[in-house]
Amino acid sequence: MRSLQNILVTGGAGFIGSDFIRALFAECSGFTGRVINLDKLTYAGNAENLSTVEKKFGGTRYFFVQADICDKKTADFLFSEYDIDTVVHFAAESHVDRSILGPEVFLRTNILGTFTLLQAAKNAWQKADGSIKDGVLFHHISTDEVYGSLGTEGSFKETTAYEPRSPYSASKASSDHFVKAYFYTYGLPVTLSNCSNNYGPFQFPEKLIPLMILNMLEGKKLPVYGDGKQIRDWIHVSDHNAAVRLILQSGKPGETYNIGGENEWENIELLHKLIEIVCDKAGLNRDTVIQTITHVTDRLGHDRRYAIDCTKIKKELNWKRQFDFETGLANTVDWYLKNKAWIDNVRSGEYRNWIEKNYTKR
Ligand code: NAD
Ligand code: TYD
Repeated sequence: MRSLQNILVTGGAGFIGSDFIRALFAECSGFTGRVINLDKLTYAGNAENLSTVEKKFGGTRYFFVQADICDKKTADFLFSEYDIDTVVHFAAESHVDRSILGPEVFLRTNILGTFTLLQAAKNAWQKADGSIKDGVLFHHISTDEVYGSLGTEGSFKETTAYEPRSPYSASKASSDHFVKAYFYTYGLPVTLSNCSNNYGPFQFPEKLIPLMILNMLEGKKLPVYGDGKQIRDWIHVSDHNAAVRLILQSGKPGETYNIGGENEWENIELLHKLIEIVCDKAGLNRDTVIQTITHVTDRLGHDRRYAIDCTKIKKELNWKRQFDFETGLANTVDWYLKNKAWIDNVRSGEYRNWIEKNYTKR
């Protein structure tokens, strides 16, 4: 089993990255190392997501660095300054709708940013004879969307050919190819994971589940794209990150691991389920909320169905999901109900000032 010492996490202030860091400090008693969180704090980054970690470990075992992953100098500096042995690369532009409206930043961050980090890792880890030093690993976080769109049958395997169809998935597919290229060309020890749709606490309310929860609570319309019969395979963010930790410890360099919830829902079915839970918990009238469902113009090139076959990680790394969907969704709704201050800060834009208000210079 690999031991984790100095981990460079990119995009650690986002939804999945912040869960990864919180869980690493909270749940992994065996982890005694340091985390360096490299995050630009785009609209999706929220340093408040890590306030508990910052309070307990800031400046000793947790270090936040606000910078762009495309910045070569910073990347090189961090590898040498912190003697990085493990990279967990979450940072990305992650929202399909935004990629349709403005694809360029997706190319820059997702492709050029990944390339910049790969180069920095290679520079730091390559020995004079060209071989790579022992014990290091670059783990790349990717998505099932690189595989394209499924018909009514079947699921994506690690061997499924790539067929990305949105600017977002095309940029992620390209970054995946670069990661693999560094393995085959330079022998850089890399692993990849391609995961299905995540849900859970701290998700930015532009993605389906938090957007719908907040719109319900605020009495706003619930926009369903097209007929709402598109299918996604939902997984709790904690289950995703437990899989990532297993890959870091026992994954085989050069390998891809698919991670999924084996939990397919049509968007419209899921919305009705969510309405039931939110109305029960928040005391809203179900019929009134149902009236706010609004079918809107479909997303351009909207992928119809995603489903992941995660047999490999279950068999090879003994990964098991902990959350059933019912419990996971109920906990998620509870979290949004209990964290009004977080929501208000996000809605007002105040979350962008968290760093200045809470960090002392060091
Ligand atoms: P997110 O949008 O919530 O967070 C992205 C983070 O990356 C933010 O903190 C942001 O500030 C940071 N970032 C963006 N551009 C940057 C740059 N140029 N330099 C440094 N930091 C930058 O995203 P998420 O949902 O947490 O997704 C994390 C990763 O997981 C992404 O790589 C995404 O493709 C992948 N993924 C997401 C899902 C999902 O359902 N959300 C599913 C599968 C895979
Ligand atoms: P999203 O959360 O954006 O994730 P992804 O596009 O990466 O799967 O969307 C999930 C599904 O919900 C997708 O089929 C698009 C649909 N959707 C809506 O119908 N309405 C919305 O307002 C949003 C944000 C998404």
